[in-house]
Amino acid sequence: MTTYLVTGGAGFIGANFVKYLLKKHREIRVVILDDLTYAGNLGTIQTDLDDPRAVFYKGNIVDPRIVATIFEKYPVDYLVNFAAESHVDRSIENPQLFLQTNILGTQNLLEIAKKSWTTGKDDKGYPTYRKGVKYLQVSTDEVYGSLGETGFFTETTPLDPRSPYSASKTGADLIVVAYSETYKLPVNITRCSNNYGPYHFPEKLIPLIIKNILEGKTLPVYGDGSNVRDWLYVEDHCKAIDRVLQDGRTGEIYNVGGHNEKTNLEIVQLILSTIRNLLEENKSYRSALKPGLLQSSDHFDWISNDLITFVKDRLGHDQRYAIDPAKITRELGWYPETKFEDGIVKTIRWYLENQHWVKEVTSGDYQNYYQQMYGNR
Ligand code: NAD
Ligand code: DAU
Repeated sequence: MTTYLVTGGAGFIGANFVKYLLKKHREIRVVILDDLTYAGNLGTIQTDLDDPRAVFYKGNIVDPRIVATIFEKYPVDYLVNFAAESHVDRSIENPQLFLQTNILGTQNLLEIAKKSWTTGKDDKGYPTYRKGVKYLQVSTDEVYGSLGETGFFTETTPLDPRSPYSASKTGADLIVVAYSETYKLPVNITRCSNNYGPYHFPEKLIPLIIKNILEGKTLPVYGDGSNVRDWLYVEDHCKAIDRVLQDGRTGEIYNVGGHNEKTNLEIVQLILSTIRNLLEENKSYRSALKPGLLQSSDHFDWISNDLITFVKDRLGHDQRYAIDPAKITRELGWYPETKFEDGIVKTIRWYLENQHWVKEVTSGDYQNYYQQMYGNR
């Protein structure tokens, strides 16, 4: 039986990964550690926690006691660290929290994994470890900075982070490399492009635009909407992480990306036309609209590009990200299986069918956040 410790497992990608593991593998145990910040929601993994193979701990990855307790209780084989402050705009408002969670939290996990997995020392003084263990750091393409009109990020592209978020993720990556070099801890780092799919918190572009359309609100596009992101369906990211855990070469970094570049404006326009078509075709989706928006004529002409508002740009806004995933394809046979045209429709359908989830995760401080972030833009 393999035991996975999944930190940040109540967030967007972590929760999708927990679901993927439980579906894909039989003989496993999944221990989830999550501090349930605004971005973490137990409801997202409630049905997974009904599975006797899964267990949840609420706690902060910066806290050595909770991490040590888990390692004492369970024979952790794989530690997959998703836990992070993940939103660039929030990092611009409060950088220090990002350094605490993303850098100090990562170092705390590495240190306890190292201590718990150590079996002795080799003749050069390096620690030796229990067979089969691995620490995997879920990182981001943002550590490479911003691209111009051409080129792709490879694993050897120099690190050049530009936001407090990406600087903190880069710091985390460097401390992972330090543990690999200095203590020979078995690690991998994956650096993925923008994910989309179910359970994406509606502060990020795609779910925020869907939510605003369903509420008849304007759609805030930063700057002129020409910034490019490389979108990957979240389940494809989960598959990549699982492949790296199983067969990734120790100490290696793997880039993960969708070969699917789109400008932000293209994304927003595509969401508009898709939602409009789905509402026109399928009456049952219309209950997702805010009460009052459903006109007796059943026409949805108001769901148009006229809802788009160009607002003040993000400070230090990276222009373009694009991943070259050739290494993970060549070495591990991974490739992005979900075509964007299918993935985006699947995602929008999910949001239309799961408004209760959106209401639940935005019932707390979300209105204040929205006012603070977009009120004066
Ligand atoms: P998310 O914000 O949706 O989820 C983060 C989770 O971590 C939440 O459940 C939150 O409660 C938890 N968390 C935050 N601080 C914690 C702490 N101190 N201790 C314990 N738990 C804590 O983020 P996401 O989009 O799912 O991203 C997951 C990881 O993947 C992050 O490391 C992010 O940098 C990375 N990543 C994200 C994307 C993307 O497009 N979303 C792409 C590449 C890499
Ligand atoms: O590239 C991977 C990264 O992708 C991850 O490491 C981050 O955790 C994740 O949040 C994401 O970062 P981005 O900044 O690219 O994602 P976000 O959804 O915030 O923004 C996507 C693009 O859309 C970006 O160019 C900014 C723009 N945008 C975003 C929002 C929220 C808007 O134009 N309007 C908006 O309201």
